Amino acid sequence: MAMTSESGRLDFQSKLRSSRKITVLTGAGVSAESGIATFRRAGGFWRRYQAQDLASPEAWARDPGLVWEFYNHRRTASCNAMPNPAHRAIATLEARWRKAGGTFTLLTQNIDDLHEQAGSQSIVHLHGSIWHVRCVACGEVTPNRNIPITPAFAGSGSPDPAFRARHFAETDLPHCACGGVLRPHVVWFGEALESKHLIAAADAVNGCDVMLVVGTSAVVHPAAGFVTLAKRHGTNIAEVNIEASAVNDVCDWFFEGKAGDMLPLLLDIEPA
Ligand code: OAD
Repeated sequence: MAMTSESGRLDFQSKLRSSRKITVLTGAGVSAESGIATFRRAGGFWRRYQAQDLASPEAWARDPGLVWEFYNHRRTASCNAMPNPAHRAIATLEARWRKAGGTFTLLTQNIDDLHEQAGSQSIVHLHGSIWHVRCVACGEVTPNRNIPITPAFAGSGSPDPAFRARHFAETDLPHCACGGVLRPHVVWFGEALESKHLIAAADAVNGCDVMLVVGTSAVVHPAAGFVTLAKRHGTNIAEVNIEASAVNDVCDWFFEGKAGDMLPLLLDIEPA
């Protein structure tokens, strides 16, 4: 759809103001202005790889050291990043709606914690958390903020395609107390989302008055499917993105621009 006009913005804000239940879906674009690279297009490469080449069980089976090097790099970027005005606008919207007795859920595909840092509370990390690890043997999930992930990874992770990668041995990888290897606690391509997250997302979509879709290409399922599901439920949907996403045609409003510019303007409202 074409970019929404000024009168469309007022229409959106009026609808949002009178909404009792709001759901926001975010993707990598919301953290782009905090300096965390998105996954697709030119900026989405790490060395010669795209996310789907490394964020998969096959990549892990082939070379877990390379996968950890990629996540070690993303952890370093995430640890240095600060929430931007988009994260803060979403957190403020939630606080206002909670105070007024409304229902608000943030569904994010992002594995960073910038939404939490900005103050978001009701948040579902559909794709897991970069700050947690999971044992491949016993399955235990633990918080882990080590950078580098083990001393062997110090100085590794340069995204430069010319960087001469070294091979990491099994002993270089992080290990659980049980002896098993630790992997990032994130959802990889081909893996199922946690059922508690699927249930929470379905709840958030059910009966939702307005859904805001921010900074996602909306090509990865099931996350993208929540938008079309909401549409089938009669929810009004607004997209904020620097370009139309794959779900743009089901949106009622399209606010074209950077999330950090658009959201503070769009969401500076109080519930009716
Ligand atoms: P993508 O990298 O696919 O898409 C990023 C989106 O953000 C694109 O639509 C951009 O146009 C938009 N964008 C970039 N900068 C923006 C800005 N400043 N303001 C607003 N929009 C901006 O990222 P996701 O859609 O999040 O999954 O990708 C979905 C999943 O695919 C990720 O969670 C990850 C990835 O592979 C896994 O790792 C399982």
